[in-house]
Amino acid sequence: MTTSGQPRTQWLGRWGFMLAATGSAVGLGNIWKFPYMTGEYGGGAFVLVYLLCILAVGVPVMMAEIAFGRRGRGSPIDAVRRVVNESGRSSAWSLFGWMSMLCGFMILSFYVVVAGWSFSYLWKMLTGGLSGGTVEELAAVFGANNANPWNLGFWSTLVTLATMVIVGKGVQEGIEKNVRWMMPGLVIMLLVLIVFGAFSGGFSDAFAFLFSFNTGSLSSEGMLAALGHAFFTLSLAAGAIMTYGSYLPKDTSIARTTLGVALADTVVALMAGLAIFPVIFANGMDPGEGPGLIFMSLPIAFQAMPLGTLFGILFFIMLSMAALTSSISMVEATISWLCDSKGFSRRSAAWSTGIVLWLISTAAMLSFNVGADWTLAGKTFFDWLDYLTSRWLMPLGGLGTVVMAGFVLNINIMRDELGLNPRLYALWLLMARYVSPLGILVIFANVLGLYSV
Ligand code: PFF
Ligand code: NA
Repeated sequence: MTTSGQPRTQWLGRWGFMLAATGSAVGLGNIWKFPYMTGEYGGGAFVLVYLLCILAVGVPVMMAEIAFGRRGRGSPIDAVRRVVNESGRSSAWSLFGWMSMLCGFMILSFYVVVAGWSFSYLWKMLTGGLSGGTVEELAAVFGANNANPWNLGFWSTLVTLATMVIVGKGVQEGIEKNVRWMMPGLVIMLLVLIVFGAFSGGFSDAFAFLFSFNTGSLSSEGMLAALGHAFFTLSLAAGAIMTYGSYLPKDTSIARTTLGVALADTVVALMAGLAIFPVIFANGMDPGEGPGLIFMSLPIAFQAMPLGTLFGILFFIMLSMAALTSSISMVEATISWLCDSKGFSRRSAAWSTGIVLWLISTAAMLSFNVGADWTLAGKTFFDWLDYLTSRWLMPLGGLGTVVMAGFVLNINIMRDELGLNPRLYALWLLMARYVSPLGILVIFANVLGLYSV
C-alpha cells in the first residue's frame, strides 16, 4: 500500500518488469559510452575488468536492489527505510535511497544531451546532412552540431520533454510495448554493422583490441572507470532498478530476471564494440577520440554499405528509443517519491521535475559551446556530472546496498525475497557480503593511492 492508501501499481504482463528493466539497462551506456571508454582506456584490459565487475558486483547488487524495491514497495527513500525498519534498524540507512535518487537525476541531466546527439543524427540521416563525409568532415559535423547552443539545446530540450511526457503518463503504458520491438531491432542493426565490419578490413584489429587482455596494464583510474561503468550500464545505484522493482509482483524470480537483464545488456555492449571498432581501425581513427567516437565513425560505415541510409536511419531510431527507455527509468525514483510521499499527481510530479531537469541539463549542454571554458580541475560541468556519478556515487551506493542486504537486514528478508535454493542463496550471500564490497573497496583504495599494484 502507498501512503495514500491505494494499492501500488504492478507491471502488467509476466514479462513487464523484465522488458522495462532491460529497456532501462540497454541504452547509450552500451552503444555510446562503452565503446568510447574502451577506446580511451586501451581496450581488452578495460573490457575484462568491466566484465568481472558485471558478474561479481553488478549481479549481486541488482538482486539486492530489486529485493529492496519489492519488499519496501516505494521510492528508494521509502523502500530502504521500510526494509531497514522492518529489521529494527535505523532510518538513517535511507540516506542511500536519497543518494540513488540524486544520482539518477544527475545522470539524466547529462544523458539527455547525449540522447539529443542521437536524435539530431537521426535528423541529419533523414535530411542528407551526413552524406559524403570523410573522417575529418564527420569530426567537423560533430563539432558544428555542438557549437551552436540553440541547436544543441533544441535537441536536449526535445529529449527532456519526451521523457517527461512519457513519465507523466505512468509506468506501464508504452514501456513494455516499446522495448518489445526496440530490442530485436537494435540487435539486428548491430548485426548489420558487424557483418559490414567483417568485410571492411578492420575486424581482426577490432577483435584483438577488445579481447586480448594483455594489451598493457590498466591504470587504477581505468579500473575505477570500469567498475563505475558496470553500475552505469546496469542502471544500478541510481534509483531506477529499485523503483522498477517496487512494481514487481511477488511471484517473479529476482535471480532469473537479473541474469536476463545483465546478459542482454552485456551482449548489446559487446556487439556495439564489434560494430564500431572495425570502422575505427579500417579508417585509421584514434580509438581514444572521446565522447564523439560513435558519431564520427558510424556514419562512415552507413555511407559505404548498401542501403546504408536506410540502415543509418533505422539505427538512430533504435538508439534514440533505447535512450528514452533508459531516461524515463532515471526519473521514476523521483516521480514515485513525489507521488507517494509528497502527494503530487503523476502529471504535476513530471512537470515540476522536468523544469528542474531542463535547467540543469541546459547547463550541461552549454559545456559543449559557450560553457566549454567553465571548468574546474580541467572538467566541464558535463564531465563533472558524469565523473561524480559513475566514479563515486554509484560505486558507493552499490557498496551501501550490498552492506545493508548482507549485514544490516534481518537474515530472513533477503532469503524470502530471493527465494533461491540454499546453495545459490549461500553463493549470493558470499558475493553480497564479501566479494562485491571487497572488490569495490580494493578499486577505491587503489585509485586513492592507498596501495599500488
Ligand atoms: N543503463 C543505462 C545505459 O546503459 O544507457 C543508463 C542508466 C539508466 C543509468 C538508468 C542509470 C539509470 F538509473
Ligand atoms: Na546499459
